[in-house]
Amino acid sequence: MNLNDPTLLRTDSYVNGAWTAAPGDRRFAVTNPATGETVAEVADLGAAETTAAIDAAVPAQKAWAARTAKDRAMVMRKWYELIMANAEDLAVILTTEMGKPITEARGEIAYGASFIDWFAEEARRICGDVMESPIPDKRFLTFKQPVGVFGAITPWNFPIAMITRKVAPGIAAGCACVLKPAEQTPLSALALAELAERAGIPAGVINIVTGMDGPAIGKTLCDDDRIRKMTFTGSTEVGRILMRQSAGTLKKMSLELGGNAPLIVFDDADIDTAIAGTMASKYRNAGQTCVCANRIFVQDGIYDEFARRLTEATAAMKVGNGMEDGVEQGPIIDGQGLNKIERHVADARAKGAEVLTGGGRHALGGTYFEPTVLTGMTPEMEMFREETFGPVAGLFRFSTDDEAVAMANDTEFGLAAYIFTNNTSRLFRVSEALEYGMVSANTGIFSSEVGPFGGVKSSGLGREGSKYGIDEFLEIKFVCVGL
Ligand code: SIN
Repeated sequence: MNLNDPTLLRTDSYVNGAWTAAPGDRRFAVTNPATGETVAEVADLGAAETTAAIDAAVPAQKAWAARTAKDRAMVMRKWYELIMANAEDLAVILTTEMGKPITEARGEIAYGASFIDWFAEEARRICGDVMESPIPDKRFLTFKQPVGVFGAITPWNFPIAMITRKVAPGIAAGCACVLKPAEQTPLSALALAELAERAGIPAGVINIVTGMDGPAIGKTLCDDDRIRKMTFTGSTEVGRILMRQSAGTLKKMSLELGGNAPLIVFDDADIDTAIAGTMASKYRNAGQTCVCANRIFVQDGIYDEFARRLTEATAAMKVGNGMEDGVEQGPIIDGQGLNKIERHVADARAKGAEVLTGGGRHALGGTYFEPTVLTGMTPEMEMFREETFGPVAGLFRFSTDDEAVAMANDTEFGLAAYIFTNNTSRLFRVSEALEYGMVSANTGIFSSEVGPFGGVKSSGLGREGSKYGIDEFLEIKFVCVGL
């Protein structure tokens, strides 16, 4: 890996401000999905080391919370500046361990850093209230206080941004964390910790526990009474396990779980905007985001033209190693992800879908998959029920608004939905009728530190980013003062 600052490449965990190897120097390999090569051997910590990280976080949190919000904000701002100053190295580390094209990785570094910048400012705007007391000789106030130490478990698809979207509001509020990054992408997390240390974030406030045994680390966090909140991005299945495991200690929970995003294109849409928006949503990170369009509903009158134009644009995409110039789609993260994509395509074909472009493994081999367009999709197919997490655009046909909304809502998930229409009244009616936490109208990309990110139904609990994100890390204390 060619870095301007090779000291950003850390391979030990970061606990209580110290770079920490596992007992017996146990390690696991991090693989570059573009080449299959081992990039690094990273410390493989387990349950006992997770408890040690919690031991460190508890006193560190108290000292951190005792500092003024302005002081915390200044340290966070320094962390933000260091991330931006080292953005190119961070992007190289990210692409090497995750596979997304370097241009997308650069975008993710800026996106990830924006949460630190934003929540550094929000730290200074945490405000309690003074209420009108109903009793003449009493005064009512609220204080907002940090929840304490939180546990965070983050996914491989955004190795930087999903960490900062959790850690930044948490530490802004005066919390400390024990974070387990995905085993596929620990290097980005450790590079962030290195920069946090350089910025002056005190020992024990951010602890990064790397390890292969996610279930044991997760259970240790959930079982420990000193962890007062869990925040997780990943599958609904694992989210349910964490919630069940946290019931014993009644923790606050934020869960950003699976999606099954509908993207609806109405006859009156601007076709250029709809194609550009669909390409951006569907093929972002090779289709490996929770908000990628998973079911594309296209109205009768525009269906054939939309299918033709989407096929042209999809077939023109450059697939390859994300470090190469002009590559728009990298490899799939691993064999398991690839198998699921293949299964969905095979199921759709067996049930009558037609392949307009792609449809199989890419000639590059490894875990590369061809950008694919399928038509003739129906609700009986697996892709209707389950998110594919890959570069497959499946087109469903519809006639009326009610039919589109009914199909879009016919899922247990409710994270993101997209609509393309030039009719303002339809835009509002359909946005209101969609049972989703986020609706993106006439654009394929909506994520920002300023907008609240989160889902309903089986897509999770709570909101990240925005002015609401910090509330997930605060408790409201009511103080009644007798005069
Ligand atoms: C995700 O896929 O979970 C996050 C996507 C985003 O932040 O835009």
